[in-house]
Amino acid sequence: MMDPSSRNRLTEKLLPRFSGESLFDRIARAVCRAGCLPRKELYEAWEVARRVRRRFRGGRVVDLACGHGLTAQILMLLDDTSPTALAVDRRIPESAAKLAASLEEDWPRLRGRVQFAQGDLESVELRPGDLVVSVHACGELTDLVLERAVSAGARVAVLPCCHDLQKGDLGGLEGWLDGPLAADVVRAAHLRSRGYRIYTQSIPSEITPKNRLLLAEPLVHR
Ligand SMILES: C[S@@+](CC[C@H](N)C(=O)[O-])C[C@H]1O[C@@H](n2cnc3c(N)ncnc32)[C@H](O)[C@@H]1O
Repeated sequence: MMDPSSRNRLTEKLLPRFSGESLFDRIARAVCRAGCLPRKELYEAWEVARRVRRRFRGGRVVDLACGHGLTAQILMLLDDTSPTALAVDRRIPESAAKLAASLEEDWPRLRGRVQFAQGDLESVELRPGDLVVSVHACGELTDLVLERAVSAGARVAVLPCCHDLQKGDLGGLEGWLDGPLAADVVRAAHLRSRGYRIYTQSIPSEITPKNRLLLAEPLVHR
């Protein structure tokens, strides 16, 4: 069993570890051929994307603070009814294009449907039908993602990390809950107060201790 939390890059050497015909193994092989992605990012993206797709189908996928944009691409593979994906990061890694090309080799239907944009996520125009995702947007960046999604009336899924206990809103709950949990509880309650239905889930903690997944959709779709 490989350690799914490892930051070692997945390379062709590891291809024999993913020899099955499952979608996960096929994606993992494409990732290994690209030779650029830390192992934990594959597992995180996969575990987030499959849970998101159990709840939310269709819509333009918008992956904010996307890094290599693998989450957006897996979301597209899991549900072909999403027409396009937009993956946004202040700094898109050079190897993101290599990873996308490797995935497109195996899934030509992705070609031309996943757009990368380098820039601040604040500059992205969101729409009500969008499916906004953000995996490990550090600290307050997660709050910004939630705020942007709610303002647009879009569905949203975040896997928060790097909680800033000085700046973050702990809702006065820190006497009962540990700080990061208090911050995420306040985020969930805030979404409800803005007219959203929330779903609270976790991805396996063996991949990352920052494993709380918060999904939300507007009760009334615009
Ligand atoms: C911890 S990484 C997560 C990357 C990716 N989602 C993943 O799970 O591998 C946080 C990312 O946020 C990006 N970022 C930070 N501030 C940003 C901003 N204001 N707008 C867009 N991206 C930002 C960074 O460049 C970095 O790639």
